[in-house]
Amino acid sequence: MQLLDGKLVSEKIKAEIEIEAAEFLNQSGRKPHLAAILVGNDGGSETYVASKMKNCEKVGFKSSLYRYDSSVTEEELINKIIEINADAETDGLIVQLPLPKHIDPDRITETIDHKKDVDGFHPINLGRMLRNLPCFLPATPYGILMLLKEYKIETSGKNCVVIGRSNIVGSPMSVLMSRNDYPGNCTVTLVHSKTQNLKKIVQEADIIIAAIGKKNFVTADMVKDGAVILDVGINRETSTETKSGFKLYGDVDFEHVAPKTSFITPVPGGVGLMTIVGLLKNTLASAKKEIY
Ligand code: GUN
Repeated sequence: MQLLDGKLVSEKIKAEIEIEAAEFLNQSGRKPHLAAILVGNDGGSETYVASKMKNCEKVGFKSSLYRYDSSVTEEELINKIIEINADAETDGLIVQLPLPKHIDPDRITETIDHKKDVDGFHPINLGRMLRNLPCFLPATPYGILMLLKEYKIETSGKNCVVIGRSNIVGSPMSVLMSRNDYPGNCTVTLVHSKTQNLKKIVQEADIIIAAIGKKNFVTADMVKDGAVILDVGINRETSTETKSGFKLYGDVDFEHVAPKTSFITPVPGGVGLMTIVGLLKNTLASAKKEIY
């Protein structure tokens, strides 16, 4: 078993991004710039957005965080998005999800200029992804592709089972793993809460991408010997063991599953760190006008 080391790979790619950001600053007189909108005080969202902003500073990007109370109206958010869309010196805009129930996430997502949609959630980017056209890929799937590439994992002709059908991870991941490209060319099965014989299907997988958001969902009896596992789960539980008061668990029962695998990502230290790299890469590509 070998670890797919998100820490090592993310640090390496961030060092490359830092060099390119410095070149961009030299040529344009400004830094690549990511704006984030955060609504309410969900603990997970606060942590993720703080980490995104911190990583921007680390690689020499400018970052702007716009915070709103959970009572903010949809119109207020829409107006802010329109204002940021029009700002020539903002390259990327993300609105952290989930949003409070009175706000329609689809309307918010579609208001973001697709040319600044560095989360890759806008229907134009998702549609272009389906057609294998230049686009911003959703950050987590993009990060997973980078990890597979870095470790030169063979994907062509393999059975890939994606667990979970979210718009953010499972659904785009299933598209990317089946497309005619590397990493890709897999035979993909997307399983979800209504799937029958889920265990049997996962047992056939050469590559498992677990993105269901349930601690220890994937157990050792579901995994064939030598499988490659990417664990997207970031399940937070309160804990007295850590300084933060929280402990993170993946969707995979790492302790019992890892010995059966050929490659596996740890949690933390795996896919989560690569998500941030995906976001930074998209923001840099936007600044450099590489996609649009
Ligand atoms: N919530 C969970 N993951 C993400 C993400 O990648 N981007 C945004 N905007 N919200 C999220």
